[in-house]
Amino acid sequence: MANVAVIGAQWGDEGKGKVVDWLASRADIVVRFQGGHNAGHTLVVGSETYKLSLLPSGVVRGKLGIIGNGVVVDPLALLAEMARVSAQGLAVGPHNLRIAENAPLILPLHAALDRAREAARGERRIGTTGRGIGPAYEDKVARRAIRLCDLAEPATLAAKLDELLLHHNTLLAGLGAETFEKSALLESLLGLAPRLLPFAEPVWERLDEARRAGKRILFEGAQAVMLDVDHGTYPFVTSSNTVAATAASGSGIGPGAVGFVLGIAKAYSTRVGAGPFPTELFDATGQLLGDRGHEFGTVTGRRRRCGWFDATLVRQAVKVGGIQGLALTKLDVLDGLPEIRVATAYRIGAETLHRLPAAAGAQAAAQPIYETMEGWPGSTRGARSWADLPAQAVKYVRRIEELVEAPVTLLSTSPERDDTILMRDPFEG
Ligand code: IMP
Repeated sequence: MANVAVIGAQWGDEGKGKVVDWLASRADIVVRFQGGHNAGHTLVVGSETYKLSLLPSGVVRGKLGIIGNGVVVDPLALLAEMARVSAQGLAVGPHNLRIAENAPLILPLHAALDRAREAARGERRIGTTGRGIGPAYEDKVARRAIRLCDLAEPATLAAKLDELLLHHNTLLAGLGAETFEKSALLESLLGLAPRLLPFAEPVWERLDEARRAGKRILFEGAQAVMLDVDHGTYPFVTSSNTVAATAASGSGIGPGAVGFVLGIAKAYSTRVGAGPFPTELFDATGQLLGDRGHEFGTVTGRRRRCGWFDATLVRQAVKVGGIQGLALTKLDVLDGLPEIRVATAYRIGAETLHRLPAAAGAQAAAQPIYETMEGWPGSTRGARSWADLPAQAVKYVRRIEELVEAPVTLLSTSPERDDTILMRDPFEG
């Protein structure tokens, strides 16, 4: 039985929540493998609306959730999220949530540094979520992170805090921000230890057993390929690898076990935060896409920038992300537009390019070359089969498949779970 990894193919917020929720209901285990509480999605189950940020969405569907070692875990945010969902009647405990013992922690000093740096950047800010994601990953690769397992060893923890504070307090003071006290941090972490350690385990072992028992594992990506720290629009990216390969390293399983890679893309483009966005629209159409698509960040509440579908960019995401099939979402937002544009290449000076270059200057200079397609009259909203779609809408989807060099295996036509056209079951490989 194949496993499935779901990743975003643009700049995030592609409507992953609905697709992941649907797949989670068919999986045994749902694994988060990168990112942290910078992600966010809303799940509607019966009369309850759950806002999840760090918890794998399978938990809401009664499945085992795993937070892998590739995730940066903010203990306070995690406990707050658990308290929120438990107030809604969903108890989260070691019976339905396991956290990699080697997962690095986000501490209050990380968020403080994230915000102080963004403030210092001024006009050149990245537009981070301010949750300490970047600084926590920096500490991980710098080998000074506090990891979940350290909470069980007070002496190790105290020694690591010395090194951490030497680094962070120097930076914070230099940025004119408040510094942190070792004793208060140590006390707080030791106080949290009994609440967190029962969740800690070598999750790689559990995943190995699950894989051998033929269990279905869903790897739930956060953010998206164009926010990948290597492959995205650097430096306007998040601080983790968001490509499907990370599902393996971020949870402790071999690359062969990741299974089918489903990329999620919106039928147009959006982006929160700063950075290059070649197909961005600054006109009434951009406004209309934002209004109709309810394009406000789940975590940040900021209005998302909107633009046409960028096939060059999604094709690149398909290649570097390992995407084998696309789930196309929010097609209904384009309903009734007289014409629809799709970027098929970029012009940079005299050059035509079929990829987004890596250099920041070239990325900012990239002008999209558009193909214009006829729009469709009527509605695609709620369509549940190809036959329900206007001919032009089918043509649009087919053209996207051609341009991005991946099949559309799932089409989502409204936020409702059942308003989905499924061409191929990802769990069938
Ligand atoms: P960070 O992940 O908080 O460091 O933010 C870095 C960039 O990634 C910013 O542009 C954020 O807006 C963006 N970002 C982080 N998480 C998400 C997400 O879940 N959806 C969309 N954008 C995100």
